[in-house]
Amino acid sequence: MRKMALVGDRQWVPLVTGGEVRRLDLDYAATAPCALQVRDAVDEILPWYGSVHRGDGFPSAVCTELQEACRESVRAFTGARPDDTVIFTRNTTDSLNLLAHALPEDCEVFGFATEHHANLLPWDRRTVHRLPVPDSPAHALELLDAALASAARAAGRGGGARLVTLAGASNVTGEVWPVAELAGVARRFGARTAVDAAQLAPHRPLDMAGWDVDYVAFSGHKLYAPYGAGALVGRPDWLDAAPPYLAGGGATRQVDLPAVDWAPSPQRHEAGSPNFLGNYALATACELLHAPLRSGLVVQEQRLAALLERELARIPGLTVHRMWDARHPKVGTVTFSVRGVASGLLSAALSAEHGIAVRTGRFCAHPLVKHLLGEGHADGAALRASIGAGITEQDISDFAWALARLVERGPAWSYRRDGARFVPDPDPRPMPALSHGARVQLRAAERRAEAPLAPVGAACGG
Ligand SMILES: Cc1ncc(COP(=O)(O)O)c(C=O)c1O
Repeated sequence: MRKMALVGDRQWVPLVTGGEVRRLDLDYAATAPCALQVRDAVDEILPWYGSVHRGDGFPSAVCTELQEACRESVRAFTGARPDDTVIFTRNTTDSLNLLAHALPEDCEVFGFATEHHANLLPWDRRTVHRLPVPDSPAHALELLDAALASAARAAGRGGGARLVTLAGASNVTGEVWPVAELAGVARRFGARTAVDAAQLAPHRPLDMAGWDVDYVAFSGHKLYAPYGAGALVGRPDWLDAAPPYLAGGGATRQVDLPAVDWAPSPQRHEAGSPNFLGNYALATACELLHAPLRSGLVVQEQRLAALLERELARIPGLTVHRMWDARHPKVGTVTFSVRGVASGLLSAALSAEHGIAVRTGRFCAHPLVKHLLGEGHADGAALRASIGAGITEQDISDFAWALARLVERGPAWSYRRDGARFVPDPDPRPMPALSHGARVQLRAAERRAEAPLAPVGAACGG
């Protein structure tokens, strides 16, 4: 792939031990840096910013036109069918909650226990068939086949709607799920398939029509477009029959109380003024990544991911966690733990002493991480390094060197436990000097002065 320029790439960050280093971001799976072209596109459109579907000014006409064109960029990126609807949301979580809200009343849901909480929790008011962690992709197919067959038997002839919902790639192990094969099993039993593509979309081409998948959900901020937009793409019939996800302006054709004539999707579920800049950023990222994902990017990333695993394997006591055989295809995400060393401490020290960002905890996928670490694991937390555009071989070597040094010698600073996390104690790193956010920063400094080691908070409980 041509090198993708990133905002803040190689920015200097302060260390607790003094001085600064160029930051190394290995936490793409949580959120990716903004692509320069995405930021430039947003800056370029800002002077033309106006209300969408709500005004007669020229900027409104421009933004309304572009907003609808953005749907076409998303459609092309996902490989959707011409009649699939493209609904703009806030992120993958929002998209999957919207889909859960729109399922037919009697719909049964089938999913593996390996999912991110965003694809685990929204379905719970339905009949959910939760399948265990499969030993292999073939086992996943068997488990799904057996669960659908058993549900079909139980329902007799009059079975209702069924949805199989699965991740395209695991946010914990990076392993790529056999999406097309699982969708094929689902189809044999008349079930639809939804793919949580939050982790797959930045790394692999999506092909809804080719895979025969009914819905896809993904987030802009993991796709180098952190402007608060995501998308749900898929078959319009259930979405058009469901009550609006949000009720309000823009979602109706006519209101003559008490009668309300709701618009079909996508407007039906997009009430309120849209996040036009977010949608525009998302569509720009889709256009930017569409061709490279289908050509060079995957190969380059595979090479770096393999190097990362090789480097990690050389660190004594380190285990890379995976569900399946090591040869199974993965995106550039690796979860690991080091015997006898708290994962949170390593993560905090990598950041505070080396300027390297990774993630620690259970990655909002508690059941899978528990399964991978086993019951007896000391702190129940692992470390995750994830790569994407802009990462080089040198970065991987620098990371492996810093990690090996921490494992061998321990941290050079003191850290305090804050729940499952560790924080430098003290933390002398100054906040960056911002001009436009200066007042906000002042408030943050006041907060810090009042409670110097205030809990940072742990998303997903770790
Ligand atoms: C596989 C997967 N699904 C869903 C989500 C939720 O994404 P978001 O926080 O953008 O809603 C994530 C986030 O990490 C994820 O990795």
